[in-house]
Amino acid sequence: MNRIPEPELMDDPQHVAAYAGAWLDNGYWLFIQNFRKFFRKFVPKDAILDLGCGPATIPLRLAGLFPQCEIHGVDGAPHMLEFGRNAVRREGLEDRVRLFHGILPDNFSLPRERYEAVISHSFLHHLADPMVLWYAVNKYSLPHAAVLVIDLLRPASEESAENIIDTYVPGAPALLRQDMLLSLRAAYTLDEIAAQLQQAKLTGKLTLTMASPFQFAVHGYLDQGA
Ligand SMILES: C[S@@+](CC[C@H](N)C(=O)[O-])C[C@H]1O[C@@H](n2cnc3c(N)ncnc32)[C@H](O)[C@@H]1O
Repeated sequence: MNRIPEPELMDDPQHVAAYAGAWLDNGYWLFIQNFRKFFRKFVPKDAILDLGCGPATIPLRLAGLFPQCEIHGVDGAPHMLEFGRNAVRREGLEDRVRLFHGILPDNFSLPRERYEAVISHSFLHHLADPMVLWYAVNKYSLPHAAVLVIDLLRPASEESAENIIDTYVPGAPALLRQDMLLSLRAAYTLDEIAAQLQQAKLTGKLTLTMASPFQFAVHGYLDQGA
């Protein structure tokens, strides 16, 4: 199926609320499990950066996992950020989970120039120019940084896309089903992602694998590559 881009920013309050509900919890669980699996010995001491952090679900979970470090998230959508900041406040984690407004690839100010870990979940498929993410990984990572990117893969057909939605979010509200269909159509394929990694000179440093039947993971420590 040919790629059909979707709007980059998610700033409509109705869509934000649907997205941030409990329906996508499996995806968050999968991300955290993969982070633990790929970086078993990694104990962040300073700060982790989440690119396209959305409602801050992953930053909040990482803050629970690593009580000794800060998690900084960046997102370009004010409503999404507001949703995330409210969640952070509810958890009483404002001192360690800090969310910033920024639209990649623009320059915006963050508390660190570079981070010991850079992560991103379900963000690549939003980008009209996917290189924006991989260049940001290079730009914001310390030389030894742990990197984990997980996102959807574009299925071969509309029928496979419908099957994925039926299997993984059965009974989800129509708005969320429609958003997921648009996201699957906008996602990149494994071949496209492999080419992006090559262009960003990340091939051999980071590994591209399947994270689930419809998601990829790109992971590794930047300094342990070829
Ligand atoms: C599908 S959501 C994923 C959010 C979060 N990572 C999660 O897993 O819950 C994608 C997010 O990327 C943000 N986004 C898209 N393009 C962006 C850009 N160029 N710069 C900053 N944020 C962007 C959207 O506003 C949205 O919040």
